[in-house]
Amino acid sequence: MKTTKPMLSWKHPEGVLNDYPNLRCICSMGAGIDHMLSDAYLPQHLPVIRQVDPMLAQSMFEYTLTAVMHYFREFDAYQNQQRQTQWQPQPPKSMGQTTIGIMGLGQLGQYSAEKFSNMGFKVAGWSRSKKTIEGVDTYAGEHQLEPFLAQTDILICLLPLTDQTRNILNTELFNALPQGACLVNVARGEHLVEQDLIDALNAGQLRGACLDVFQQEPLPKQHPFWQHPQVLLTPHCSSITDPRSVAPQIVENYRLMKSGGVLLNQVDIKRGY
Ligand SMILES: NC(=O)c1ccc[n+]([C@@H]2O[C@H](COP(=O)([O-])OP(=O)(O)OC[C@H]3O[C@@H](n4cnc5c(N)ncnc54)[C@H](OP(=O)(O)O)[C@@H]3O)[C@@H](O)[C@H]2O)c1
Repeated sequence: MKTTKPMLSWKHPEGVLNDYPNLRCICSMGAGIDHMLSDAYLPQHLPVIRQVDPMLAQSMFEYTLTAVMHYFREFDAYQNQQRQTQWQPQPPKSMGQTTIGIMGLGQLGQYSAEKFSNMGFKVAGWSRSKKTIEGVDTYAGEHQLEPFLAQTDILICLLPLTDQTRNILNTELFNALPQGACLVNVARGEHLVEQDLIDALNAGQLRGACLDVFQQEPLPKQHPFWQHPQVLLTPHCSSITDPRSVAPQIVENYRLMKSGGVLLNQVDIKRGY
């Protein structure tokens, strides 16, 4: 008897899905689905679903909070001073005078935006469609990108990777930030033009960058980011799917698929996220 099947996948080999004629649904193990849409042979008729999980959002917030506090409390400056045996307190700052700008106000971005706002930071957020989030100044669309950036002290990228957002973190965007702003990229390496970041750091336009994702992963040993004094990097670990946490929604989607119900967390393949 023929049985119809879903597939759970993370970075499958290109074209392999066509080897499974009974496939009914493709499920990403993570929040992102760009690794699936980059498969030129992806069967277009199948639904694609992703993980939407409170643990993913909380874990991402914990990471962005760590990065934000590193820059807000000037640990980058103190690290430098320590190397030079220099005792020099930095001038005090307040959360209310520091703006965190979040690009992408989806499941992850909105969660972090609300948390930062509740802590007392000024928070701005940018998305494709306009959002209303208590305590957050929201901006939408390309025409509002510049005013969003102009006030941002610490920029966090939580966009999905699409044709519109690839290479969005580039010289033009860095120049639209106030001088001395910091960047936290926890979305995808392909959002960032890496040489543009190095130039912006060397020129003093940006003060520092905390990077979790890279154009090439693992980051090649000879890559300049490893040794750059203004780069803080981690190995793509800002928010890792915990199988124990997402298993119930995968099982629920399996049941829905079998009964012909509407699947949870289905993505819009045309939109790209
Ligand atoms: N480093 C890691 O470990 C890790 C872990 C998990 C996720 N991620 C990354 O984080 C990304 C975001 O996850 P999510 O679950 O929050 O995604 P999501 O719920 O799909 O939200 C995406 C957000 O980005 C906005 N957006 C999309 N295209 C845009 C554009 N062209 N201009 C302006 N805004 C745009 C959307 O606007 P609308 O609301 O108007 O649609 C939405 O607010 C994932 O795609 C993945 O790449 C990384």
